Amino acid sequence: MTKLKTAVLISGRGSNLQALIDACGQPDFPAEIVLVFSNVADAYGLERARKAGIPTAAISHRDFATRDAFDMAMDAKLTEAKAEFICLAGFMRLLSATFVRKWQGRIVNIHPSLLPAFKGMHVHEQAIAAGVKVSGCTVHYVIPELDSGPTILQEKVPVQPGDTADTLAARVLEAEHRIYPAALKMIAEGRVRLEQDRAIFA
Ligand code: GAR
Repeated sequence: MTKLKTAVLISGRGSNLQALIDACGQPDFPAEIVLVFSNVADAYGLERARKAGIPTAAISHRDFATRDAFDMAMDAKLTEAKAEFICLAGFMRLLSATFVRKWQGRIVNIHPSLLPAFKGMHVHEQAIAAGVKVSGCTVHYVIPELDSGPTILQEKVPVQPGDTADTLAARVLEAEHRIYPAALKMIAEGRVRLEQDRAIFA
C-alpha cells in the first residue's frame, strides 16, 4: 500500500500528534508521518515524535523578519522530507496566504469548537461565556482566512453545568483524538477532497 506522506506541524504538547502517531502505527493505516515540525524548539510533541522514531525539525519564527520568510524556511523542510500532506495539530502560528495557496487541498487543521462557532483563541472560554449546551471539534481544510475552510469531520461534545474551560477542553480533546485520525484516513483513502472551496465526499 502506498501511504500518504504526512507532515504534522505543532507548537506544544502534541496530544493530537500522538493520536496521529498511534493511528499511523497500525499496519493498514493509509498515511505515514514523515516529519514533525515545530516553531517551538522545546515543544513536548517533538519528544513524542522522537520516541516514535519520526524525523523532527524545529525552526523558530523569531529568527525571521517576516511571516513569508519563516513560512518559506518551513516549506523547505517539508519539501526535503517529501511531505505530500500537512496536518496542523496545535500549530499556533498564522500561515501566509502564499504558503496556504501552495498547499491548498493538502493542508488541514483541527480546531476545538464546532466551527464556524468560536474561532481564534480562548475557544472554551468563548463557548462557556456564550452558554452553549453543545460544543465539539472540527477538522477542516485550511484556507487563508483563520479557522475557516470546508469541514471534513466534526464531533459534538456536551457542555456540562459547572464546566470550566479546562474541564470542557479535556472532554473536547478526547473527541479530537478520535476525529483527527479518522479524517486523515478518509483523506488518504481519497474519500474526501477539496474542490474550489468545497469539500467533496466520495
Ligand atoms: C488542541 O485542542 C487543538 O484543537 C487546538 O490546540 C490544542 C493542541 O493540543 N488548536 C487550536 O486551537 C488551533 N486554532 P495538542 O498539542 O495536545 O494537540
